Amino acid sequence: MSMSAENLEASRPSTSRVEAPKLDRTTIAAIVASGKRLLVQGGMGVHASDGLAGKVAAVHSRRFVGVGTVSGVVKTPEHLRAELQRAKAIAPGGFVGVNLMAALNKSDFELTARTALEEGVSFIVQGAGISRDIIRWCREANTPFAGIVSSGRLAAMYEKWGAEWVVAEGAEAGGHIGDIDHPLPTLVEEVCAATSLPVVAAGGVDASDVGRYFAQGAAGVQLATRFIASSDGDAHPTFKQVHLGKKEEDVVIITSCVKGMKARAVRNEFTEALAAGKSFPPRSKAWFFGPSGFMGRKKACIECLAEGLCKCRASNFQESFCISDALLRAVATGDEVLGLYYTGQSLVRLPETEVGELKPVQAIVDDMDNALDAYQAAGQATPVPPGPQ
Ligand SMILES: Cc1cc2nc3c(=O)[nH]c(=O)nc-3n(C[C@H](O)[C@H](O)[C@H](O)COP(=O)(O)O)c2cc1C
Repeated sequence: MSMSAENLEASRPSTSRVEAPKLDRTTIAAIVASGKRLLVQGGMGVHASDGLAGKVAAVHSRRFVGVGTVSGVVKTPEHLRAELQRAKAIAPGGFVGVNLMAALNKSDFELTARTALEEGVSFIVQGAGISRDIIRWCREANTPFAGIVSSGRLAAMYEKWGAEWVVAEGAEAGGHIGDIDHPLPTLVEEVCAATSLPVVAAGGVDASDVGRYFAQGAAGVQLATRFIASSDGDAHPTFKQVHLGKKEEDVVIITSCVKGMKARAVRNEFTEALAAGKSFPPRSKAWFFGPSGFMGRKKACIECLAEGLCKCRASNFQESFCISDALLRAVATGDEVLGLYYTGQSLVRLPETEVGELKPVQAIVDDMDNALDAYQAAGQATPVPPGPQ
């Protein structure tokens, strides 16, 4: 499907558009100057984070301003609009942005970005690759752009290109990992030194270590895995349960079909089969997208990734696996055999062991408030990072 105004028009729901406040560097500097920091919920693709953005954007906190991120990955424009409107209704006046993977097929990438911009989001944040087009579209729509970086060099580039903030994502993160040898504490230091933009630290963060990243100069933290383990969020109960009660040996690094990037997941039969060299060609997704397919694409391969960037499609389905199948099976049906359970390293520190014990987002944030109070009470300073130049 090529990008066209008709596509956007056809997908526009009848409800009226409500503009979310913009999250730009000046706004972030004002939040930091007020003594608070950003608490960003990381966008999780293929519906893993659906239902969370509004909850995080609506939190009441002494220490943080909550920021929700709706994933635009493998969502139709209708679904993206509905998810954004739902988040904005839960958190009126809250920060709600959209996460996009640059590895998506070009027409979906543009359609999703333009749909998000039309909906009046607080920001667009880009991971898994780099497209400069999206920075231009954001500028034209007067919407802040943020880049996910795994090096100071990329952060400096994004600053030059016009980003408003960056997410420094360390090797401890869930899903695709930019640089497997770059742990977050070193990365935050490197990125803060390389850019004057506000830096949000992501990857393996939990309540116990937010203070150290603020002490390093971060303007906020981004968490994803901690919010999977919440009673809020639409992910299948088995998806949540699979994250609980886990130890180091339950975590595995796989080679994803997305550009052959490394990715962190919970070890299961599926990841063991991949490690043994088994391939999983795409299967029909009519069960999820209905008979007319995803964006009208009815074949088993819905061409979600750009040509050449999907290892499975590039090998004529002889190698690797279909990421949409594997993640959908985990998130939507809780399939423990054929599902792929992306996770961050912080899962080994999740306190709950049973899905019935999971807390709402607000209670998780209350714990983070208390942990930061304790960090400061122990005499650790939380310096104010530099504001805009
Ligand atoms: C299930 C899952 C799916 C994810 N999907 C995406 C994605 O589509 N795009 C992206 O930029 N990051 C994605 N991430 C990364 C998160 O947004 C976040 O930055 C990272 O997981 C932070 O580390 P934590 O999970 O240890 O808190 C995903 C993470 C998980 C666990």
